[in-house]
Amino acid sequence: MLRRDVDLTACNTLALPGQAARYARIDSPEQLGDPEHARSRRFILGGGSNLVLTGDFDGLVLHMAIPGRRLAGEDADAWYVEAGAGENWHDFVQWTLAQGWPGLENLSLIPGTAGAAPIQNIGAYGLEAGERIHSLTAFDFSAGRLVAFSRGDCRFGYRDSIFKQEGWHLSGRFAITAVTFRLPKAWAPVTGYADLARELDGTSTPSARDIADAVVRLRRRKLPDPVEIPNAGSFFHNPVVDAATAEALLAVHPALPRYPQADGRVKLAAGWLIDQAGWKGRNLGPVGMYEKQALVLVNRGGARGIDVQRTMSAVQADVLARFGVQLTPEPVFL
Ligand code: EPU
Repeated sequence: MLRRDVDLTACNTLALPGQAARYARIDSPEQLGDPEHARSRRFILGGGSNLVLTGDFDGLVLHMAIPGRRLAGEDADAWYVEAGAGENWHDFVQWTLAQGWPGLENLSLIPGTAGAAPIQNIGAYGLEAGERIHSLTAFDFSAGRLVAFSRGDCRFGYRDSIFKQEGWHLSGRFAITAVTFRLPKAWAPVTGYADLARELDGTSTPSARDIADAVVRLRRRKLPDPVEIPNAGSFFHNPVVDAATAEALLAVHPALPRYPQADGRVKLAAGWLIDQAGWKGRNLGPVGMYEKQALVLVNRGGARGIDVQRTMSAVQADVLARFGVQLTPEPVFL
């Protein structure tokens, strides 16, 4: 059912105002086959938790609400669990744990939907969704049919996938309808992330439930609940620089947190850089950087897209001037 001039303020966790000229809620993959959808300039909306709405959108917003969670298959080594694109991510993770299928516990309490998880390859506390994704189904608007992607097809990287690499998340070429996760029966806890290890201290052999609970406690402590303080999680990627750049920075800033990558490059902590640049808890107009985690940009009330862009640019400029590092935003701008 197509609606016109729909207010999207409640559809994005930064609570930015804006209208969609046309809007349809999608409850089944069949609805995507409407030729009118293929002809329109589209934006595929999930939970709106990685979105900066810069104003009104003069196109068609397809709000993905396809439900469903099921055991799609099982072999000697793993359970294959499918989520409809519109399933709430955290609820889905908690359901898999309750069923006795561990493997996604480190990703508890991440906002958004299951269908959006592959696009930026959500990750936290030492695990990325792409490590557990087996395959997914997406509607291809240019071919007018459903197509399957294997994990390899998705080309997952840090906060990255083929959907971003090819610009399909912006052009609306594909709408992911369902995602299947491969959860190995030989479960092993992922507890290497320093904060998580500390939170689990004293739990000698943590269960998946213990890990999920620890992750939920950590996130509640550090990250603002979008219902209370509108935000879109980490606002910038952690920048990855070459080894020489990291060495040079370390010489001047001995406390610089750094995470060596498999390819020899070094990931830096954007939150630390922003914090050191004096932005932790600082506002510019109605938009600031959160006082408990400087990487999270928050709407203090009444912000518009332009206010977000202003604070974003000011933070980028200060970090660049101080450290010579360019920060890139994580959310999608519409
Ligand atoms: N730090 C500061 N000041 C701050 C924030 C962080 O000094 O204000 C330092 C911390 O002390 C630590 C380092 O920066 O040494 C890294 O901080 P943290 O462990 O909190 O994680 P992060 O790198 O800031 C990333 C993800 C989060 C994810 C956490 C946990 C990105 C862009 N962000 O944050 O993801 O929850 O690790 O794994 O990779 C998200 O993407 O929306 C998100 C919340």
